[in-house]
Amino acid sequence: MRIINDLKIWEELRNTVYSSDSLGFVPTMGALHKGHLSLVHRSVTENDFTVVSIFLNPTQFDNADDLHEYPDTIVSDRSRLKKAGVDVLLCPDYDQLYPDNYTYKISETEFSKQLCGKHRPGHFDGVLTVVLKLINLVKPRRAYFGEKDHQQLKLVSGMVKAFFLDTEIVPCKTVREIDGLADSSRNSRLTPNNRKKAPLFYSILNMDLSPDKVIEKLQSAGFKVEYVEDIGNRRYGAVYLGEVRLIDNVYH
Ligand code: PAF
Repeated sequence: MRIINDLKIWEELRNTVYSSDSLGFVPTMGALHKGHLSLVHRSVTENDFTVVSIFLNPTQFDNADDLHEYPDTIVSDRSRLKKAGVDVLLCPDYDQLYPDNYTYKISETEFSKQLCGKHRPGHFDGVLTVVLKLINLVKPRRAYFGEKDHQQLKLVSGMVKAFFLDTEIVPCKTVREIDGLADSSRNSRLTPNNRKKAPLFYSILNMDLSPDKVIEKLQSAGFKVEYVEDIGNRRYGAVYLGEVRLIDNVYH
């Protein structure tokens, strides 16, 4: 696995060694878990080459503490990606990805203002902007996104259509622990007691109750609820356990 920090080197390799039409891409912010690895495995299976990026994108964090608390597990991330058969790990820095210092950005004006976007102003501008930059740099045939971040998945798919990008966005099923908790980089920050309680989020979200009743149940179980909302055939939720924010969604 080649580890590339310099985007100029990447661009040269993209035009020569990795010029295949069958290039898969998995963008990440690191702190890899089984969910990320399932995207990587799928890309490795479906493409000649797989590129993974690790870039902790500051423009999608509306809260500086959340950004600083984000786990950094780069050493184990590297060895897990190598073992999974990844060809290139791209790790650019802020100055390379944002030569404009974020004076240019991409916005979606409707769905991005709901759910997580309502509670984290500017979050999806940051996500869409960095994903557009990465897709333009990597030029993948396919890019893999998890259904756990369903709102992100829908917004990225919409952006790709809106801007005629030549990349297929491949949705991948949420990976869960045996007790139902969706895998997330933030799970490692749960206290042992909150880790025991966390699977209730998924089981209560799945109950055949109105969103208001689900909120009541979550609150009595000790969650601080940011939102529970039904949109289309999905029920979306975001909660806090202590300082840790968890999101999930279920078919409803
Ligand atoms: O889902 C994530 O980890 C991030 O939002 C992404 C897509 C890597 C963009 O920074």
